[in-house]
Amino acid sequence: MNILLIGSGGREHALAWKLTQSPLCTSLYIAPGNPGTAASGINVDIKINDFAAIKSFCLSHDISMIVVGPEAPLVDGLTDFFRQEDTKHIGIIGPSAYAAQLEGSKAFAKKFMQKYNIPTAVSMEVHAGNMEEGQRFLESMQAPYVLKADGLAAGKGVMIIDGIQEAKTMLREMLSGKFGKASDTVVIETFLKGIEFSVFALTDGKNYLLLPEAKDYKRIGTGDTGLNTGGMGAVSPVSFADEELWQKVIDRIVKPTISGIYAEKMDYTGFVFFGLINVDGDPYVIEYNCRMGDPETEAVLPRVKSDWVQLLQAAVEGRLDKQSIETDDRYAVTVMLVSGGYPEDYAKNKVIQGLDGIEDSLLFHAGTAAFNGDIVTSGGRVLAVTTLHPDFKEAVRISMQNADKIQYEGKYYRNDIGFDL
Ligand code: AMP
Ligand code: GLY
Repeated sequence: MNILLIGSGGREHALAWKLTQSPLCTSLYIAPGNPGTAASGINVDIKINDFAAIKSFCLSHDISMIVVGPEAPLVDGLTDFFRQEDTKHIGIIGPSAYAAQLEGSKAFAKKFMQKYNIPTAVSMEVHAGNMEEGQRFLESMQAPYVLKADGLAAGKGVMIIDGIQEAKTMLREMLSGKFGKASDTVVIETFLKGIEFSVFALTDGKNYLLLPEAKDYKRIGTGDTGLNTGGMGAVSPVSFADEELWQKVIDRIVKPTISGIYAEKMDYTGFVFFGLINVDGDPYVIEYNCRMGDPETEAVLPRVKSDWVQLLQAAVEGRLDKQSIETDDRYAVTVMLVSGGYPEDYAKNKVIQGLDGIEDSLLFHAGTAAFNGDIVTSGGRVLAVTTLHPDFKEAVRISMQNADKIQYEGKYYRNDIGFDL
């Protein structure tokens, strides 16, 4: 079958790499893709929010399945758009706009979790009309205070604040448009102390399969310091996710979430990304995403041995109950190379050297572009280096060694990925 993959980051390069390993994939197209995905398929110059152009491309290229990488087109209704008469034969990996609110609206996700008794931080939804009540709720809590913009805010909408006065000021600022419309509603919640990890399910809206879990390294600085980023590295499996914790995750979180999706009649074929926190052995949901993680995908997919297209096709056809997933026991360690200055302002178009010298690792392009015969940087997160190895420390060492070999002006990576485990 012909497949169209939407997106252009490291996650999409890993997805492209995995999709083309399947004998079921005849042609893979990536819109818009990057120089890495061009090695697995054909990049097409279509923007991810240009639904009309995506549709006409699908019809003229006999596309049978669309795999949506990022959340934005899902929240904007790409799946719903394709449910029309002339395109409804095309399978889509990615939920409807209504279901994508599990990621796109923190308040929606909180209501869902409360309804289905899924463990998460105690919270309150605040808008202009009940701001004073929100201030009182803050006063009743203990520091630190967690304030979340309801809508998508490019990963910047979560504030964790130590002082009560600062928290009250922040609430007022958020409600007055600090994140535009995204913070017209703010969710205040209690701070959960623990260690975070990510669990991924592929669902057909009723059944699900679990993918290998991962741990993401969110902060820019070594030792988990500095600003939050999209993710500076990932490891899979996660050593503290033992059988007991897994069972709790499945019983208390995964099963009730999938049954909730089914009970609500959500049009949901695709990934549920559970952002979890382990609080003294008990898992809580920090957030849902309606897509795979980045850079988690670059660590998780290399550990999936099963035919990826076969699994996705089974999800589209609602028969995941008849599938299983085979995983590689080796450790995967992903180190992200970023542009100097990221996650704040950074320079682009720096020539990248050393890409051919990588041995024993996979290299996924994230923010790169082809320019005058060179590969240059074009984003904050530039390249992901993933190593699979039976020995965790070796996997870490080889990823770092290869990260060292790549050169461009301003290159930075965290040299402590996996050191805490
Ligand atoms: P989110 O966008 O909801 O995933 O939040 C971004 C980050 O903020 C998370 O990855 C956590 O590190 C942190 N965070 C969010 N909510 C909480 C909470 N209730 N308690 C502690 N940390 C949180
Ligand atoms: N790495 C976190 C995310 O993809 O949301």
